[in-house]
Amino acid sequence: MPFPARACAAAALVALLGALIAEAAAPCGCPLPVMKVKTKGRITFAVLGDWGRVGGVKSLKGPYADGYDFSGICAANFNDSMSEDVEGGEAQLRTAFALEQACRTRDCQFIVNTGDNFYEWYERGGGIDSLLRWKTDFENVYQGPSTPTIAALKWFSVFGNHDIVAPGSIEAQMAYGAFNKRWVMPKRFFGQEVHSADGKIRLRLSLINTSPFVTKYAKANYKYNTTEFRATASPANITAQTDFLAQSLSSSKATWDIVVGHHPLVGSAAMLYGFNSSVYAGLPNATAGVAFDLGRPTADGSPAFAKVLSLLRQYNPVAYMNGHDHILTHAVDPADPIKYTTQYLTSGAGSAADGADSCGAPNRPNVKFSNSKIPDGDLCTAPGGDGVNGFHIVRADASSFKVEFYNVGTYGQASLAYTFTVPTNPNMNRKPSGSCMC
Ligand SMILES: *[C@@H]1O[C@H](CO)[C@@H](O)[C@H](O)[C@H]1NC(C)=O
Ligand SMILES: *[C@@H]1O[C@H](CO)[C@@H](O)[C@H](O)[C@H]1NC(C)=O
Ligand SMILES: *[C@@H]1O[C@H](CO)[C@@H](O)[C@H](O)[C@H]1NC(C)=O
Ligand SMILES: *[C@@H]1O[C@H](CO)[C@@H](O)[C@H](O)[C@H]1NC(C)=O
Ligand SMILES: *[C@@H]1O[C@H](CO)[C@@H](O)[C@H](O)[C@H]1NC(C)=O
Repeated sequence: MPFPARACAAAALVALLGALIAEAAAPCGCPLPVMKVKTKGRITFAVLGDWGRVGGVKSLKGPYADGYDFSGICAANFNDSMSEDVEGGEAQLRTAFALEQACRTRDCQFIVNTGDNFYEWYERGGGIDSLLRWKTDFENVYQGPSTPTIAALKWFSVFGNHDIVAPGSIEAQMAYGAFNKRWVMPKRFFGQEVHSADGKIRLRLSLINTSPFVTKYAKANYKYNTTEFRATASPANITAQTDFLAQSLSSSKATWDIVVGHHPLVGSAAMLYGFNSSVYAGLPNATAGVAFDLGRPTADGSPAFAKVLSLLRQYNPVAYMNGHDHILTHAVDPADPIKYTTQYLTSGAGSAADGADSCGAPNRPNVKFSNSKIPDGDLCTAPGGDGVNGFHIVRADASSFKVEFYNVGTYGQASLAYTFTVPTNPNMNRKPSGSCMC
């Protein structure tokens, strides 16, 4: 028996009103993707960087002659038989085992990946047909039977300078998330939130792409002056990133804000990448052979790294996390660590641990810890040259933010090397408005 037409129209109206009311009452959501973890009142994650070496073609020459770092500053001090690209694949596996071990005991819920995901994408297959590198450098290393804990985790990922070299590398990495949900890298710079099960702890990650900021990459015929670099390093493109960061930090209602980029801002390699030299003017060797880089210009002419630093100083996110330097470091703001509370954390020891870009860095008072052999703050003269592999594990609850530094042993054992805790949280009671999630 057919419904009378009028009854049908009335039913449709009721359904429509219902939908509208449901709409109005529904949570206003979050403009960013939100990952919910299973724990209440805490969130735990690992931070790893500079890792994709297994599938790269091994250089037969020294690390600087045909290898991956063209800085040349301390080439003479490196022993070719210890070259970073030859040893790096072994070190990557060793570090993955240690990460598995530590994440199993500490209950990691995701990974922050600080970049340099592939050294170099084109080394096998050439160009964009190197999808095999997902198998050799990512899936086989971190998602296999030996690493069941970390195999289940998502990787919130940024690009490093090695990722911008080969044509297609960037596009392939952004596309991979469609095939592997563990890989989260929708764009070159993006935001992501992670919430505890009870919504009490909310992390906001603001992930940026720092290679376009680096002044020396723009040199003509330089390895990093690539199509990708030129497409992202204009003042307008850089401003799009600093605007994103300003918007993300200023609108955040998160319990903890974290900014992630590949290059360091202060401490370790910051001598080359973006620190304000005048702060170090009185320190020994502050300008020993290398100029400080405040960054390529934004649209209003202010240099990019300085602009990022000023945003961090304005909004005081709990941490800026980077890789690039192949070590683990903890630094604080050299100008005023009481006023500017952001902690500067380097985790770039996911494969070859050498710290080459730190060469010449003075022993800075604002660097609180480094896991490498840097007797005078200068890795060029460190015995053996090589550093120590490692990663961080962070545990955030409402009031404290604890960072553990793990070193990696010869057979992949994880050992706790250093811990610090940010003991207070000015944003502990910050709440999204109304029914919003963030
Ligand atoms: C390089 O390192 C290897 C292995 O540690 C060592 O046997 C060799 O003597 C070193 N060579 C130089 C020139 O230091
Ligand atoms: C990059 O290299 C090209 C030529 O190799 C040069 O014209 C250009 O100025 C360089 N820098 C940038 C930012 O494009
Ligand atoms: C760079 O900025 C221009 C506009 O200024 C934009 O059209 C382009 O998509 C940006 N490039 C990238 C890679 O986002
Ligand atoms: C660099 O540091 C000096 C001294 O602290 C300060 O006056 C200046 O504004 C800083 N410049 C930038 C770009 O941050
Ligand atoms: C400063 O440079 C000199 C000469 O290059 C070197 O002997 C000295 O060890 C360096 N000092 C520091 C603190 O790096």
